[in-house]
Amino acid sequence: MKILIRNIKALLQVDQGKRQKVCGEQMSELPLLEDAFVFIDEGIIKGYGRMPDLHDSPYGKYTGHSDVHEIDAAGRMVMPSFCDSHTHMVYAGSREIEYIDKIRGLSYEEIAKRGGGILNSARRMQEAGEDELVDSALERLEEVRLLGTGAVEIKSGYGLTTASEIKMLRVIRKLKELTPLTIRATFLGAHAVPAEYKGRQGEYVDKVIEEMIPLVAGEGLADYIDVFCDRGFFTGEETDRILLAGIKHGLRPKIHANELDFSGGIQVGVKYNALSVDHLEFTGEEEIKALLESDTMPTLLPGAAFFLEMEYPPARRMIDSGLPVAMASDYNPGSSPSGNMQLVMSLGCIKMKMLPEEVINSVTLNGAYAMGVEDNLGSIAEGKKANLIITKPIPGYSFMPYAYGSNKVDIVITEGRIS
Ligand code: NIG
Ligand code: FE
Repeated sequence: MKILIRNIKALLQVDQGKRQKVCGEQMSELPLLEDAFVFIDEGIIKGYGRMPDLHDSPYGKYTGHSDVHEIDAAGRMVMPSFCDSHTHMVYAGSREIEYIDKIRGLSYEEIAKRGGGILNSARRMQEAGEDELVDSALERLEEVRLLGTGAVEIKSGYGLTTASEIKMLRVIRKLKELTPLTIRATFLGAHAVPAEYKGRQGEYVDKVIEEMIPLVAGEGLADYIDVFCDRGFFTGEETDRILLAGIKHGLRPKIHANELDFSGGIQVGVKYNALSVDHLEFTGEEEIKALLESDTMPTLLPGAAFFLEMEYPPARRMIDSGLPVAMASDYNPGSSPSGNMQLVMSLGCIKMKMLPEEVINSVTLNGAYAMGVEDNLGSIAEGKKANLIITKPIPGYSFMPYAYGSNKVDIVITEGRIS
């Protein structure tokens, strides 16, 4: 299907597809065209420009054409859809019980120590069938798609047995077939030590390395490998061993690091050229220095800090030091039961003092980089996938993070489908 979006008040994040990510000061630059059009064919951005130039452009001939779907975007912004580079969207059952425990004063770590948290989700995962997992994840994916998300990374990690981890990854593979969203899968066998390995953590790490990784890689079930490298979960040395084994099997690291403490996770991620290191609430000068010398994308998950009422990562210090920053939802039943990237943008501005341009860069181009899809998504560029957002009529792009809690997205286009 051919689509012509015309009279766009501002077309955001336009580029020639040359930028893979934006760092430091560049993060406050948001290239845009006012009074613009975009032409889409078969789900691909074919061209864009300013309305006064439409007539003389190669796309002028499509105006008023019967097989072209025209959308009048007067008063609206058009932008690339969000790339949510860190989620745990496949899970069985919610965890409001722990939510209430948290309201009563227990911390995330205390809940985990009592056998709640990830182990609670792992118990339910054992019992869940593939079909119900696919159905519930599809519902979540559709919800976030309509809120503007166009690409999602999804992790395993509620399995914690070989069979259950493989089950989760097969569900993600099915989701890749069933949803128009772009999906990437990450193997997170080392998310927590399962109850039956209590006191034998090393043996579980061996099992991840010797049994799970070869099977996962052999079936081509994952694009990336993750470890929850933090206090009370996996140590820097264990993470090192697991990442090395993953890399040997072709899985690039993309890890949880420094959420609960200075865990060494950032350094071990950088050592193994991780695509991203995520959370980063505990980031100091040493960590920033390591990141500056790397191609690793620091990825912040303010929804988790908000929900758990923990410290926010030092986004301002990172950007002012010249780093790129991506933001993702961390959508999961324990620490961030929301995949709403519009809310993530608001949290970025309100809680981490990021500018509207910086949050937009962090959830589009830098988010695409953090999940390895920047060649196809994350900006408005000729030849990229036309996964786009058309907003409601709004005064300007800063209204997106400003008007927190309401849905500013009117129409989404995903793989050429208009919803
Ligand atoms: O990213 N931090 C580790 N893992 C998830 C939480 C998972 C859970 O509590 O279910 C996170 O916050
Ligand atoms: Fe997470």
